[in-house]
Amino acid sequence: MQGGIALVASGSATPSQKLTNDQLGLRVDTSDAWIRSRTGIGERRVSTPEESLAALSAKAGSAALDMAGWDPATIDLVLLATSTPDDLFGSATQVQARLGAKNAVAFDLTAACSGFLFALITAAQYLRSGAMHRALVIGADQMSRWVDWDDRRSCVLFGDGAGALALQSTNFENDGLLGFKMKSDGSRGNCLNLVDNGDSMSLVEGIRYRKGKFLPIQMNGQEVYKFAVREVPAILDELLTLSEITPDSLDWLLLHQANKRILDAVADRFSIPYEKVLSNLFKYGNTSAGTIPIMLDEAVREGKIRRNHLIASSGFGAGLSWGASLFRWHGPD
Ligand code: ACO
Repeated sequence: MQGGIALVASGSATPSQKLTNDQLGLRVDTSDAWIRSRTGIGERRVSTPEESLAALSAKAGSAALDMAGWDPATIDLVLLATSTPDDLFGSATQVQARLGAKNAVAFDLTAACSGFLFALITAAQYLRSGAMHRALVIGADQMSRWVDWDDRRSCVLFGDGAGALALQSTNFENDGLLGFKMKSDGSRGNCLNLVDNGDSMSLVEGIRYRKGKFLPIQMNGQEVYKFAVREVPAILDELLTLSEITPDSLDWLLLHQANKRILDAVADRFSIPYEKVLSNLFKYGNTSAGTIPIMLDEAVREGKIRRNHLIASSGFGAGLSWGASLFRWHGPD
């Protein structure tokens, strides 16, 4: 019989370098007033050249393991959601090694800003099936490495950070994941890309190849905005209806932190008071796969999210990809 999962503990880590809106104004033609009014962002974190994605992820993971009180050797799975690995072959194994999770299988999952939600749902399948018992799901990105810092239309939005969630298998009656939905639409994928666009090279006579080299992030902000305010309410509505849960019974709305205006639009659609909408955009901007678990961790540590609280979450972004989940927080025993 299918089992369930418990959301046991969280952790997060952000680089210490802060980049304020005023500092960004020294680089591109923008202002604190414009960025705040259009996005709700006040500052973001930027990794130093020496700070790796694996180190940031391991710091977040280790904080979650400490909260859970788990020996790293008891973890079966380290699932790292990232679009900005240190190594295109994957960074999860480096995180596993840093954590000392020597019995865990570790691999990356790429779904941009939907990555953490997709990874949480993926890990839940291994736990529910009984194949695994403990998982560490990490969402982490270093957007600073791939942003075009001379493009004011996109650079003001992004930052770096990592968040982690420790999950454990439970019996079906205590399942903390009440429902989920995931969607993709590659036909609209060209409004947000980080593509390989290397040069065409000659290998030997008659054989050509393309040398890998990624372009910085390219984004059509208005299209992404329209996509988010249309699809996020739609998928949440679908999930709430399917799960027979009314918006007023939610304790928290935990959305991907892309833009304060998107958060407000979704809350308005469901008449959810803004006090129930978790937001830390002001401090970090959009950390891609990092936003949901960082926000979750801060709300747990601040005592906002407590045992049995019901949370609706939605991630959305490049791909295009988007998803939603409904879960109850358990916390450590
Ligand atoms: N500072 C000052 N002016 C700016 C800036 C800036 N940083 N950026 C754009 N402008 C200007 C534009 O040039 C334009 O000027 P113009 O009218 O003279 O041409 C004007 O401001 C309005 O530009 P818009 O693009 O219409 O501004 P908009 O209100 O749409 O806000 C924004 C732009 C903030 C990017 C918004 O569209 C948005 O948030 N979109 C969603 C983006 C997003 O969330 N992306 C991440 C998705 S998640 C993932 O997977 C990574």
